[in-house]
Formats: sequence, structure tokens, C-alpha cells
Amino acid sequence: MPPASPSPASPSPHTHDAVVSALRAAGCVFAEDEARLLRSAAGGPGELNALVDRRVSGLPLELVVGWAEFAGLRVTVTPGVFVPRRRTEFLVRQALAHVPGARVVVDLCCGSGAVGAALAAALDGAELHAADIDPVAVRCARRNVAPFGGRVHEGDLFEALPAGLRGRVGILAANVPYVPTDEVPLLPAEAREHEPLVALDGGPDGLDVLRRVAAEAPRWLAPGGRLLIETSERQAPVALETFEASGLSARLLVSDELYAHVVVGEVRGGAVTT
Ligand SMILES: C[S@@+](CC[C@H](N)C(=O)[O-])C[C@H]1O[C@@H](n2cnc3c(N)ncnc32)[C@H](O)[C@@H]1O
Repeated sequence: MPPASPSPASPSPHTHDAVVSALRAAGCVFAEDEARLLRSAAGGPGELNALVDRRVSGLPLELVVGWAEFAGLRVTVTPGVFVPRRRTEFLVRQALAHVPGARVVVDLCCGSGAVGAALAAALDGAELHAADIDPVAVRCARRNVAPFGGRVHEGDLFEALPAGLRGRVGILAANVPYVPTDEVPLLPAEAREHEPLVALDGGPDGLDVLRRVAAEAPRWLAPGGRLLIETSERQAPVALETFEASGLSARLLVSDELYAHVVVGEVRGGAVTT
């Protein structure tokens, strides 16, 4: 019997074009890029189908593949944890520019620990502490900071930190929740439905957590250390006043490219460098 001839090519649901079409139909703006990523993440056609289905159902891409690219690192992101935003790379860059020799780094409100991991990766051998109130985030952050010898503490802001860090922190980075409560329902569905409220809601004007961090930061900063908090363009004037009222001399740093706003502060009169 002659060998069976190959069956005529049928349109495969796994081709790049088919994946792009499915993603586009679901409203994914960067369908081409996402299709490439999903295809490279999938072990085989069955898995690719599952990944595309999850993405099409509205799960953020980072949760579909299990990681986010951040400051040159592949950061693990687990369900229920805030997905690190590219805009926050500006906070990392500014922290390193202001305190290039920091030996002690704290990533407060750490979520996945992306900020702390990126800082530790750039500051060879720095002592890294991260903290978050959400145990799901704490577990995720532990995976991301472990390669840098970082420790992750669970609890409410500074209460989570070892007391021995007081007065020793060179970089105190805090990407706190800063969406005003009334605006949470207006966020894109990916955030509203897949990120915890505690990671988003910053109180009536979005500045509740920022106020608490700024008030206590002076007791934790080393001479020459800096507090850096991401904020929004609209909130920036009040955020600056809040830093000043807490005894920090403050400046607003802006990235037009990333549309990012960061307030940086140092203890007024603190002239010694770390
Ligand atoms: C906007 S997310 C930022 C996460 C991470 N730093 C990043 O940039 O990807 C804010 C994080 O703050 C944490 N958080 C909110 N309130 C907190 C509090 N009182 N103490 C500690 N962490 C808190 C949330 O659990 C969440 O992980």
C-alpha cells in the first residue's frame, strides 16, 4: 500500500495570524506583540490555546504568562498581586540617580517586589528589605527578591520593618496605592477585576497612604537618604506639600516619556551622604 499522502493543510488555530486575530477581536491593542509572547510561553498547541483563552477572557497578559518585564528583570507575578507598571521604572531610575551608593534599600508597599529587586540588581550587595500588608503579595515578593538576598516582611507600612533599620535607610521607595476611592470604578477592567483593592485605593484624594509614609519616613532615613513615592500629575502639588509638612525637602520629578511623576524627599538639613 502506498504511504498515505499528507492531508491538505487545514487552517490551524495555532498560527501566529490566528492568535493575532483572536487577540484583536478581544480588544488587545498590542495583539502582534502579545501573540509572539504567548506563542513563546506555550509548551505546545494545547497550552497555547489555553493561554489565548485566558487572555481573551480578560486576564492581564502578565498573569497569563506569570511574569512581567520590569527594569530589565523578569518579575514573577502571581494571581491577586499588582502587576508592576513600566512607568514605575522611572522611580527606580531616580532612586539610583539620587542615592547611587545606597547600602540599605527598603521597598515599602512592595507588591511583587519588582522595585526592590530592580534596585538590588543595580546596587550590588545592598541590604534589601521589602514589606507589604497583603500576604499574597508577600509570598510573591519573596520569590522575586530571593536572588538578591532580600527579606520580605508582612504588615502595615513601617510596622512590618525590623526596628534596627531606623536611621539606616538609603533608599526608601514606596509605590503606594494612589487611586482616589471614587475613581477606582473607572479603572480599566484588567486592574479592577484582577488586582486587589488594597493595591489601588488610596482613600478620598488618593493620598492617604502617601501621607502616612511621608510622616514616618524621616525616622527611618539615613543621613543623605531619600524617600521616593510615585504619584499622579494632579496629586503632585499636595504630595509635595505633604513631604514638606513632614520635615522633608521635596522635589517633583517628571518623565514625559513614561508619563510618570515621582516625589523625592530628604530630611531637611540632612547633609551627610550615604
Ligand atoms: C500600587 S501597588 C504597588 C506594588 C509594587 N510596589 C509595584 O510597584 O509594582 C501598592 C501595594 O501596596 C500594598 N499596601 C497597601 N496598603 C498597605 C499598607 N498599609 N501597608 C503595606 N502595604 C500596603 C498593597 O498590598 C500593594 O501591594
